[in-house]
Amino acid sequence: MRRQTEPRPLNGGVQNGTRPSAASRIAVGPRISMLPTRSRTQRPVRIAIVGIGYWGPNLVRNLYELPEAEPAWICDVRLEALEALGKRYPAIPATTRFSDVLEDPTVEAVVIATPISTHSELAAAALRADKHVFVEKPLAASSQEGLKLIRLASRRNLLLMPGHTFLYSPPVNMIRDMIAAEELGEIYFISMSRVNLGIHQSDVSVAWDLGPHDFSILRYWLNETPSHISALSRACIMPDTPDVAFMNLEFPSGAIAHVELSWLAPSKLRRTTIVGSRKMVVYDDMSNEPVRVFDSGVNLIAPETFGEYMLSYRTGDIISPNMDPSEPLLLEFADFCAAIRTGSQPRSHATLGLDVVRMIEATDRSLAAQGSRLTVEHSAELETISEPYTPADAAGLASGAQYAAKA
Ligand SMILES: NC(=O)c1ccc[n+]([C@@H]2O[C@H](COP(=O)([O-])OP(=O)(O)OC[C@H]3O[C@@H](n4cnc5c(N)ncnc54)[C@H](O)[C@@H]3O)[C@@H](O)[C@H]2O)c1
Repeated sequence: MRRQTEPRPLNGGVQNGTRPSAASRIAVGPRISMLPTRSRTQRPVRIAIVGIGYWGPNLVRNLYELPEAEPAWICDVRLEALEALGKRYPAIPATTRFSDVLEDPTVEAVVIATPISTHSELAAAALRADKHVFVEKPLAASSQEGLKLIRLASRRNLLLMPGHTFLYSPPVNMIRDMIAAEELGEIYFISMSRVNLGIHQSDVSVAWDLGPHDFSILRYWLNETPSHISALSRACIMPDTPDVAFMNLEFPSGAIAHVELSWLAPSKLRRTTIVGSRKMVVYDDMSNEPVRVFDSGVNLIAPETFGEYMLSYRTGDIISPNMDPSEPLLLEFADFCAAIRTGSQPRSHATLGLDVVRMIEATDRSLAAQGSRLTVEHSAELETISEPYTPADAAGLASGAQYAAKA
């Protein structure tokens, strides 16, 4: 059972509407027990969630369940979205005015899940109002905007975190650990398919919508950004909005990757193959065995006589490791709250987010140049940005009644 601290309504709840605030009701809901409970000295981070469309309700649900967080507001320009979600979370005040969130001094952080074109403006406004910011992927609609946000957060000593959810997925982390431990050997290539039927976006291409997932995973697994990208795409249904894209990426380590993205496919695929010199892995997010490790490979046997190479194919065991069932979004927000309270760098950090934006921009430039192989710009300017965020009060000790811990 959960006892929720009453959020402090500033203005009686939903703005521009007739529904009275439900902030005084007590919410009762299930608690997640598998996560470590917050230290007694750490007060929950009061977080406003902005953008209650397709994705926002998932963020609200996870923040509501996370002991380290306390949802302070839900905000959307659409009153009907607030009213629908308000039925599930009557204790969370709702508003159509972003300024209500910014002007609330008890709000410590803002989570932004609005369309990509609005990320930069909303995130900058939140940072200027001294709020930490979690902005859904991609960080911004251009690397220029992303860089400005990083500079602003650094200047104001605030945390800026992009929402690259897959970096918190247990299968993705298991594979990352195998790569880092060199269990797979040298990574030769990675092939990724992320296709299904819909949802066609009206304001961005499939590369901007789905690309951040695979680009962030590649950046995380290989711990490097690609040196070159070439891309091919087509707008099959809506003119000027590409709904299928094929990208080829080359990394400084020698690894190459192919990423296939589409909103136009008969069945949903979330399948990645990683081929290393020692082992191979199939990661299928649609399967109940999401990771399968193949002890397979090919050895080149040195020629006994000049030019006579021999190949020896190895097909050993296939292992399907047990997977931690934790929900990635919950782990992602736990990381966000820990970073706010302790100053630790979140796994999904802003520089990684900027690299992802640069990879998408390189894709766009290649498309504009008929699929030419182009260089990916790197984050050189970041070296001039001073210090990462450090909390003034690292222990996050409770300082007021409004921060009373959740039971
Ligand atoms: N991490 C993931 O797996 C994942 C999955 C889906 C979407 N996303 C990201 O989440 C974000 C939102 O995507 P979506 O599919 O939910 O979009 P959506 O269009 O369904 O929802 C966006 C919501 O933002 C609201 N909004 C727009 N401008 C606003 C403003 N100025 N103030 C307050 N509210 C405003 C809209 O009314 C709408 O309800 C995007 O950045 C998207 O890339 C992430």
